[in-house]
Order: sequence, then structure tokens, then C-alpha cells
Amino acid sequence: MNQMRPPPKIEIIPPTAPFSEAQRSWLNGFFAGLLSTDGPASLSAGQGGTPLQGPIGDGDDGEAPWHDQTMPMADRMKLAEGRPLRRRMMAAMAQQDCGQCGYNCNDYSNAIAGKAETRLNLCVPGGKETARMLKALNEELEKAPPASSGKIAAPVVAAAIATEPGRSRDNPVPATFVSRRLLNKPGSEKETWHIDFDLSGCGLDYVVGDSFGIFARNDLGHVDQVIALLGASHTADIRGTPLREVLVDDVSLAPAPDTLFELLSFITGGAQREKARALAQGEDPDGDAATLDVMAALQKFSGVRPHPEAFVEALEPLQPRLYSISSSHNATPGRLSLTVDCVRYVVGKRQRLGLASTFLAERIKPGDQVEVYVQKAHGFALPQDPRRPIIMIGPGTGIAPFRAFLLERKATGAPGKNWLFFGHQRSSCDFFYADELNAMKTSGLLTRLSLAWSRDGDKKFYVQDRMREVGREIWTWLAEGASVYVCGDAKRMAKDVERALVDIVAQFGARSTDEAVAFVGELKKRGRFQQDVY
Ligand SMILES: Cc1cc2nc3c(=O)[nH]c(=O)nc-3n(C[C@H](O)[C@H](O)[C@H](O)COP(=O)(O)OP(=O)(O)OC[C@H]3O[C@@H](n4cnc5c(N)ncnc54)[C@H](O)[C@@H]3O)c2cc1C
Ligand SMILES: NC(=O)c1ccc[n+]([C@@H]2O[C@H](COP(=O)([O-])OP(=O)(O)OC[C@H]3O[C@@H](n4cnc5c(N)ncnc54)[C@H](OP(=O)(O)O)[C@@H]3O)[C@@H](O)[C@H]2O)c1
Repeated sequence: MNQMRPPPKIEIIPPTAPFSEAQRSWLNGFFAGLLSTDGPASLSAGQGGTPLQGPIGDGDDGEAPWHDQTMPMADRMKLAEGRPLRRRMMAAMAQQDCGQCGYNCNDYSNAIAGKAETRLNLCVPGGKETARMLKALNEELEKAPPASSGKIAAPVVAAAIATEPGRSRDNPVPATFVSRRLLNKPGSEKETWHIDFDLSGCGLDYVVGDSFGIFARNDLGHVDQVIALLGASHTADIRGTPLREVLVDDVSLAPAPDTLFELLSFITGGAQREKARALAQGEDPDGDAATLDVMAALQKFSGVRPHPEAFVEALEPLQPRLYSISSSHNATPGRLSLTVDCVRYVVGKRQRLGLASTFLAERIKPGDQVEVYVQKAHGFALPQDPRRPIIMIGPGTGIAPFRAFLLERKATGAPGKNWLFFGHQRSSCDFFYADELNAMKTSGLLTRLSLAWSRDGDKKFYVQDRMREVGREIWTWLAEGASVYVCGDAKRMAKDVERALVDIVAQFGARSTDEAVAFVGELKKRGRFQQDVY
């Protein structure tokens, strides 16, 4: 028989508040009702700070104290010491649950440990550091007796790998690129594009909160420079495909992988060989390791010319990139929009191009087909109850899913109140979708619009500073049952915003910091504090 357990008790009115026991009890009950769960049905364990995986037979308690995207690798591994391999593998990942690998961190590690996934290089935010640690842990796994690797992962993996066309990175479909429009005005230091796709040809749909996976292609000019450094012909045959095509479509030319340095060490000698070998082992003999993309590596070892075939084999496959969808399929069926910040930066004398963002910003033409897929959101969705208020905090490109939320709530006539916190560098040139948002405000769809411009004044002013100014009202919305959403930069912004929310709960909910942390933790567990950060 299914025994129902009572929901965990939330003490909303602290014992120190000036109420009698009876009053406190009544008030607690009243607010607990308002604070009831209304997370999306898809809310998965592992998102939003909940324990990631219950005990599954290997003695682990399922807690993941390392699950913090701002924690350095060494600290994460320390916290995972003595745990089963699958848990240490999880600790080696970047902890963003960003979905780029096709899983969340917990499921990806279970899949590797259960030997259902052999690719150890899928954690994009973890980069080479994660790939190296996973390689070392995987070697341990290979040596371990079969019982300790376990059959744990199979059901998780079966669920994680969507086989339907266009529903996973393993099964992309072609969509048509329609147009791009620059969202910044002259004077901006940023280059952010509104991008439109037509999905009618591939028949894909999506719900707001989902992300869009893009398989971009390398820049042809860059590829030709790499071919020149190899001293090869661009038609050199690589198992039936011309070298140029393989370098454009199939392999990453970004961070030079350890395997490329291994290859370079094999085909050279002396000091060059030592250097290449050191780089292959993650050392940094000249202090430039972090800047060595494939081209810079070839330039560094300029006399060394690998055979094109061996060279291609030493490179990593080109990985897709995810973008939060900024449109609503209900509002514009068959259409999909993204909000993409273009990554360009200079190292030495050469400008480096972000692969997918510059592909979307300048390399594809209207009418071109791009390989894409929809990455279903886990734990990032509008509340099931359309009356529930929402507070959305999305500086920069973090606005993307919130534009989608607002368009969805408009299209479906959802009556809940909507409050958006948007911030960027300058009000004059970085106010994305200003006309749309102002119109939504005028129409009443957007109940409140709070803005924070970091470079308009003498001092930095961020969304969390604006939140603190209106903390009392945020607390009132929370008490009315509002769900809180954060989207954008994972490394600093998301943490700072969460801290501000904790402070607001402490100040206006009359709690100690510990109680406020627990309160926000409870909101997460109930799906009322959700993040989509990268
Ligand atoms: C779930 C999810 C949703 C996302 N949504 C969005 C979105 O809505 N909009 C958006 O714009 N992005 C979004 N991203 C980020 C996006 O996926 C890409 O990571 C981003 O566009 C960069 O990809 P790229 O291929 O252009 O650059 P890459 O080729 O991947 O290059 C980026 C890398 O370059 C390096 N780099 C960047 N700048 C510098 C610098 N100044 N100095 C030195 N090194 C540097 C860093 O190592 C960085 O990781 C999202 C990510 C995830 C996981
Ligand atoms: N590696 C990094 O250090 C870093 C930092 C930011 C963004 N990114 C990445 O850059 C990409 C696109 O960024 P974006 O276009 O969305 O804009 P963004 O660069 O994230 O900036 C958006 C706004 O957020 C502000 N901001 C900076 N630090 C903040 C913090 N700790 N808390 C709150 N706000 C903060 C920025 O101010 P100022 O710029 O004036 O400080 C700016 O006004 C994303 O992929 C993001 O992850 C990387």
C-alpha cells in the first residue's frame, strides 16, 4: 500500500516573531498553503539543489555536496572522496546541469559508470579538466571488479537518450535559418543577435523553457589557415571525404586536445617532444596552455607537420551548442527564436571566434539548413497553475527564456502576475526587446519590469542590487505563491542573485540567515526556484 507521508513542515513565521503560539500556527498554515508546490511535472531530481540520486544499492546516500558550479575541481573531488566511482565521476563534471552532454551531471556519470556511455568528452563547461579526470576515473573503472561498476545506469540512460528525430544531440534534424537582427544599438560593447528559425520543414515543436541545440560549422577561412599550416591539400582524402570538408563539419578547432599534443610528441624530438609531452599531460611548460587552440598548437610546433589523417584522428568531434529558446510555439507555431551573444576575443594578434555564436551571427544565410534538436528542459518551466505569479531574473542573454514565458502566458491567456528583472551594460544601447517589453507593460501582461544598468553610473549596479531595493515586494510575491526563475551566467550572477534572494527572505521574512537558506532550499525542492544557467 502506498503510504502518504505528510509534506515537510515549512516554518514561515519564525519562533522569534511577536505572535502567540496559536497565531503563529495559523499564520504558518496560511503561508504554507500559499507556498505549496507547483513545480512543473518534468521537475527532475538533481535540478535546483535537491539531492541528486537516492540510494541505488551501492551504499551511497545520494547527497551531492559538490553540486555547485562555482566550486573548483579539487574541492569537488575532495568532497566525493571515498564515494562510489559514479559519484566521483559526477563530482568531476562542471555541475551546471546544463544539458549540453545530453544528460544532467548525475545521469551522465551514471551512464559512464554503467558503461552505457563511452564518450568521456561531452562536458562542455568542464572542458579538458573534466575530460582528463573522467579518463583517470574510467581507467579505475576498467580495473574494478564487475560488481562495483554495477547495472545502475541502464534505466536512466534509456530514458535520457531520446531516439525521436530532433529530440537529442544524437539525432538532429535540419531546420531553416530565417533571419538575424542585432539587438544592441550603436555604442554597445556587445553584439547580441535575435535569431529566427523556421521549423515547419522538420516538424519540430517545443515548450517554453526548452533549449535548442545547434550543430555549427567551422569558419572556412580559419580551416584554410589550418590546412596551410599542415602543408596539406584541402582535397586530401580522409576516409572518403576531403580534408577541408572534415575540418569544416566534423572536428573542433578550439582548445587543442591532449591527443593532438601526444601526436606532436610522437613525430618530433628533443625539447619540442618534451614540451608536447608535457602539454599532453596537462602541464603548462610555457604558461600558454590555456590559449592553445588547434591552430595555435600547430604554430607553436611549426616545423612539425602531422599527416592529415592522423591529425584529424587526434582532434575532438565538433560538439553542438545549446541556446535557450526565446519564443513560444503556441504564439508562433513553426517558428523558433534565440537570443545569442556573439563570442569574439583576441589572443595575441589573432581574433578567436566562438564557434556557434559567430556561425549564427555571420556565417549562415537565410534559407540555409542547420542541423538542430530540441533539448527538453528538466526543471525549468512555467508553473502548472497559470494563476501563479512569476518572478524572472535574466540579465543579458538570460532574458531569452523569459521572453518565451511572457509570450506563452500572453498566448494562453494565463492570468498570473509577471515580474521581470532585466539588466545589462547600458540603458541606451543594451535594452533588448525594449519596445516589446514596454508594450507588455502597457498592456498589463508584464506587471512589473525592473531594470539594472551596470555601466550607466560610476558604480556597477546589477539585477540583484535592484532586487534588494524592492525586497519587501519580492517577499510579498513569494508569500502569494510566486515562482522564481533565474537565467544567464552560471559562474557569478546566479550565485549572487541567489544570495540576494536569501537576504531578502531573511530581512523581510524575519529569519536568521540559516533559516533563509533553508527557506530558499525548500523553494527549490518544491520547484518554485528554478535556474537555467550556463
Ligand atoms: C542550457 C544553455 C542555454 C544557453 N543559452 C544561451 C543563450 O540563450 N544565449 C547565448 O548567447 N548563449 C547561451 N548559452 C551558451 C552557448 O551554448 C554557448 O556556450 C555560447 O554561445 C558560446 O559558444 P560558441 O560556440 O560561440 O563559443 P565557443 O567556441 O564555445 O567558445 C567559447 C569559449 O571561448 C572562451 N572565451 C570566451 N570569451 C573569452 C575571452 N574573452 N577570453 C578568453 N577566452 C574566452 C571560453 O573558454 C569559452 O568557453 C547557453 C548554454 C546552455 C548550456
Ligand atoms: N567568463 C566570464 O567571466 C563571463 C562573465 C559573464 C558572462 N559570461 C558569458 O557570456 C555569455 C553572454 O553573456 P551575456 O551577453 O548574457 O551578458 P553578460 O556578459 O552576462 O552581462 C549581462 C549583464 O550582467 C552583468 N553582470 C556581470 N556580473 C554580474 C554578476 N555577478 N551579477 C549580476 N550581473 C552581472 C553585466 O555587467 P558588467 O559586464 O558591466 O559587469 C551585464 O550588465 C554567457 O555565455 C555567459 O555565461 C562569461
